[in-house]
Amino acid sequence: MQTKPLFAAFMAILISLALSGCVSQRPTQTAATIDPSNATVGVSMPTKSLERWNRDGAHLSEKLTGMGYKTTVQYADNKTDVQISQLQNMITQNVDVLVIAPIDGTVLGPVIAQAKAKHIPVLAYDRLIENTDGLSYYVSFDNFHVGELQGEYIVENLGLDKGKGPFNIEIFGGSPDDPNAAQFFAGAWSKLQPYVAAGKLVSPSGKVPASPTDWKKIGILGWDSSKAQSEMQTRLNSFYIGSTKLDVVLSPNDSLALGIEQAIGARGFKPGSNWPLITGQDADKANTLNILAGKQAMTVWKDTRLLGDRAALMVDQLVKGQTVEITPGKEYDNGKVKVPTFLLTPTVVTADNVRSTVVEGGFYSAAELGLK
Ligand code: BGC
Repeated sequence: MQTKPLFAAFMAILISLALSGCVSQRPTQTAATIDPSNATVGVSMPTKSLERWNRDGAHLSEKLTGMGYKTTVQYADNKTDVQISQLQNMITQNVDVLVIAPIDGTVLGPVIAQAKAKHIPVLAYDRLIENTDGLSYYVSFDNFHVGELQGEYIVENLGLDKGKGPFNIEIFGGSPDDPNAAQFFAGAWSKLQPYVAAGKLVSPSGKVPASPTDWKKIGILGWDSSKAQSEMQTRLNSFYIGSTKLDVVLSPNDSLALGIEQAIGARGFKPGSNWPLITGQDADKANTLNILAGKQAMTVWKDTRLLGDRAALMVDQLVKGQTVEITPGKEYDNGKVKVPTFLLTPTVVTADNVRSTVVEGGFYSAAELGLK
């Protein structure tokens, strides 16, 4: 098999790392350089059905194209078999680098092995790819911190830290097949569990994980809004009868929050009177509008443009045989290897700071959000 020039660059980095005996100390330059216009980057995104992945795919592709790369971008309709066959096609087409946001982080091992056999480096985008030694890098926001921000928000805004409570809470988890969901839950739980243990947060439905690793039983498969809506409806119908008040819902992201908010609205709750505090993540437009309408308390904004910019830079550094910048001490263990990782910092968005965050940051125009 002919050795790909990019593989040669990649090997040069690995060899020099091995010689230096220090994985975290990366070489600043290597000799091999590929002209970006001769390199194709395969980008595999989970679905077009969620706002954020459309933004991710479009921005990353635009960024890479602007740097001179060719790209092929595919969305897998949230179906693992579709994602695998799309990846197989990209490998057959001899792409030079793969950037993958997996649907199910646990099942891509065999297809990543095919990429590895053809010396195609793989960058995991936003979500980790587990149980494979074929993963070169990972770029994401600090997922545990996303959960911590949601938990902290609940603690501070209910006044739990000032001794207030007890409050009624309903807890939701993300998609059980998404490794990020475990991190989000662990982060939130690290902040909330002490108050659950102290009886200051009480869940009338009893849907409370016994431990941080037991969260999958409250997970919503595929991050599906309508599944979250019907789960919330069931809990409201069964456990919030008479005067039982719902104070707070831990929702790990915006797609779930949207379904939860619909169920709560349909049940006759009113913003500004008995509407519970609801968390989220992504600053999707519908949710940002709901924040302004008093239907969602906060969202954790992970600027997809920054993630795309960083992913493109990492691809470029790889292709050019340069040092790939990572966040020291933040490797993620994927079950087979410790994956060098670049982590970005998420931002809390509330009604009070919408303007100074997503509007001034150019994510939405004031007009799009109905602001003057
Ligand atoms: C992402 C979140 C997103 C969720 C659903 C997670 O892996 O990190 O930003 O809300 O998937 O798409």
